[in-house]
Amino acid sequence: MRRGNLAAVGVLATVALGALLASPDATCSGGGLVEAAEGSGVATGVALSWHGLTEDKDYASILIKDASLVTLENASKWSTIHHQAGGAPDYQRMDALVDFAEDHDLAVKGHPLVWDEHVPAWLPPDLDPARFQALHDAYVAGVVGRYAGRIAAWDVVNEWIEDDGQPSGAPWFSRLGTDFGPRVSRRVQALDPKAKLFYNDYAIEWDNQRQRGVLDLLQGWRAAGVPLDGVGIQGHMVAGLSPSRAQWRQAIQRFAALGLEVHLSELDVRASHLLGAEFGRELARAQAFYDAVSACVDEPACTTVIFWGLTDRHSFMNRHDPQAEAPTLRDRQGQPRASWYAVAAALRRQPWPACAASVLPALAQPTTAPVDLSAVLAEGLDWRISATPAQAGPAELLLRIARPGRSPRFASLGQSTGPGPILADLRLERLPTRLDAGETELGLVARSPGGDPLALAAVDLRPRCDGGG
Ligand code: G3I
Repeated sequence: MRRGNLAAVGVLATVALGALLASPDATCSGGGLVEAAEGSGVATGVALSWHGLTEDKDYASILIKDASLVTLENASKWSTIHHQAGGAPDYQRMDALVDFAEDHDLAVKGHPLVWDEHVPAWLPPDLDPARFQALHDAYVAGVVGRYAGRIAAWDVVNEWIEDDGQPSGAPWFSRLGTDFGPRVSRRVQALDPKAKLFYNDYAIEWDNQRQRGVLDLLQGWRAAGVPLDGVGIQGHMVAGLSPSRAQWRQAIQRFAALGLEVHLSELDVRASHLLGAEFGRELARAQAFYDAVSACVDEPACTTVIFWGLTDRHSFMNRHDPQAEAPTLRDRQGQPRASWYAVAAALRRQPWPACAASVLPALAQPTTAPVDLSAVLAEGLDWRISATPAQAGPAELLLRIARPGRSPRFASLGQSTGPGPILADLRLERLPTRLDAGETELGLVARSPGGDPLALAAVDLRPRCDGGG
């Protein structure tokens, strides 16, 4: 955001974010999320990446601080193990990753045995279904059998339900036959009786047709005695549009009611669509993580949270959606982001640190100049403002929205008959104007009922944390 001649807060974002990160309740004494999770009843995991482990010298040391479990991000997929046309299976990467995990006492989740996006590219699209099934059976027998006793859990079926709640019509699912889920589950149980078996899917944290479709599917499996221990709710989230803690809890409870263990299995957060200050976008991402992980800690059936990418350098978003912006808990250098501290607080059953104090420092003196919020505010969050005029009496609080070359506009936020602070809630997306990325100045001002400027003596701004968050 461009700096103007408003009451200076140029360094605010740095100061306030630093204060958040340094919150004594939120920090770990040099430890990682594994330490923060102690006593929470929830294990933390990350997607284990071959490229991360082999190309980033800091990867392993960070990983073992944050994870007691790893999901094999790609190494156990059909297309990885059978990447050579007609060739022998290649277990080189999976061998190395499972060895690494065992060397560091990390439980391993294999992922996923059935998914239409990882069919080997060399398989002819018109392959006869019987041959297709035989090849898939050989893949399952090979990979499950080879690592039997070493894999804590398998994602057996991934993403089989569509948005309308119906089973996927993807050609290769149908080539496996409609009962492939139960059939593969039974085979995996026979090959590796100790491994827990999971169904894994996305967008089922919402009360929607997709969630109902998965609930119906798994209820049917349970009724038919199909081996199944749990469900993975992936949790690829969008900041500002992510479920509240209450919504997460409801979703977890619905799957728990089927007698299933629940993992939040692929957590990350996108925020590229949000306009406003990087500071606010960072908090919007952190809130999404905080609500998801808190809900898991709240619910006994939810045992594990798995982050999809150890650091921003290792997120699949770098290929999938390069604009995604900081989707993981750590930046590209491996340093914890506000999201990491939010997760640490959630695991410790502590309030989200961002709600504990104002993100603004105290005003040096009462001022009629707009209190600049440009370095702080962004879309994606509900903000709570408490602004105290210097003198008692009726007052109105306004947000001043200024763009270069245009007269400022004002949005009324709240009024008070005084004395005491004016309380106001603010969500930038709800303003009758759109922000120009990087161009708009946002300031707080107060006026008398007659329109005269009133000095503000104090402004407290923080994310609203009472909405189920
Ligand atoms: O490892 C090879 C590399 O050797 C090769 O040079 C390069 C050339 O393209 O490809 C590399 O493999 C890529 C791999 O990621 C590792 O980076 C694959 O092309 C690419 O398709 C693969 O994408 C993965 C994607 O699933 C598809 O399998 C992502 O890493 C992985 O994060 C993503 O994860 C999925 C979950 O399995 C299921 N839920 C959704 C989630 C996100 O899509």
